[in-house]
Amino acid sequence: MKRTILALQALLPCEMKQLEEEYDVIRLWEAHDPENILKTRARDVQAILSTYNGGGVSERLMEALPNLEIIAQFGVGYDNIDVRAAQMRGVTLTNTPDILTDDTADVALYLILNVARRVVEADMFVRVGRWRSGAMPLSTSLSGKTVGIVGMGRIGSAIAKRAEAFNMNVVYHSRSKKDGISYQYYESLEDMACDSDFLVLACAGGKSTENLITYKILEALGAKGYLINIARGSIVNEEDLLIALRNQTIAGAGLDVFANEPYVPEEMFKMDNVVLSPHTGSATLETRSKMGQLVLDNLHAHFAGQELLTPVRIAS
Ligand code: 8YV
Repeated sequence: MKRTILALQALLPCEMKQLEEEYDVIRLWEAHDPENILKTRARDVQAILSTYNGGGVSERLMEALPNLEIIAQFGVGYDNIDVRAAQMRGVTLTNTPDILTDDTADVALYLILNVARRVVEADMFVRVGRWRSGAMPLSTSLSGKTVGIVGMGRIGSAIAKRAEAFNMNVVYHSRSKKDGISYQYYESLEDMACDSDFLVLACAGGKSTENLITYKILEALGAKGYLINIARGSIVNEEDLLIALRNQTIAGAGLDVFANEPYVPEEMFKMDNVVLSPHTGSATLETRSKMGQLVLDNLHAHFAGQELLTPVRIAS
């Protein structure tokens, strides 16, 4: 008999097909009455396929599923999952690190390029015929500027490498100084913001980083500084960011993530010092397919009693 997987969101068609060949998949996102499905099928569910955009995996949901063994997250971040509740129930957790690092770092760089070189505006300038009436206003150079990266993990390091290729100076802030990394470390986020032209958020989401970026930090970044966020919307106090953008406390922002996705504060739609992107860090065909395959491989390994490929080890 096939094992039952509760899927909160779809994989790409090819990986979804494989998933459905091997398992009995409850497509929760398509259900007319999800509560009822959860009630009637609760005892069958042995695994959850979750994603950040697919909603939360709460303690209540885990409680409702007495035979739940594994949560396989389609994504590197897992701040949509109540990790402590999973740990207390002995539920295994896997994610999809590494394979999405390059694509996500690319998004940070294109946001830097976009805000500094005014790419969106330049495109519009040509399309609406303004070029014929004169040159576009000048933009900001990347070369020689300082990128302050918050979180020097896999994605932070990949952003640093790319920024170096653009002749930018890289500095970083994280909970502690990292061994073997030669970039200048700032213990104080505010001091780093003060010295940065681009403040790039590449740290994990969740309680520990919630509202890390307040008006005080944005004030330190200053009128020539840009905020770039490819991590989680929860890291930034969005109200403070709106004030800072409105008052030109900072020069602008490049944002791939927001506090309440897919809802973006409408005031931002009218701001020409902001570049907006709909959470696309890992959103390429190649990477999303590899992420799906890794989810399948982790599920397979778990049910075959083999070593997991990418388990999340939760510090107790
Ligand atoms: C999402 C992400 O998983 O990896 C992460 O942490 O935020 C993304 O890759 C993806 O958007 C699907 O929800």
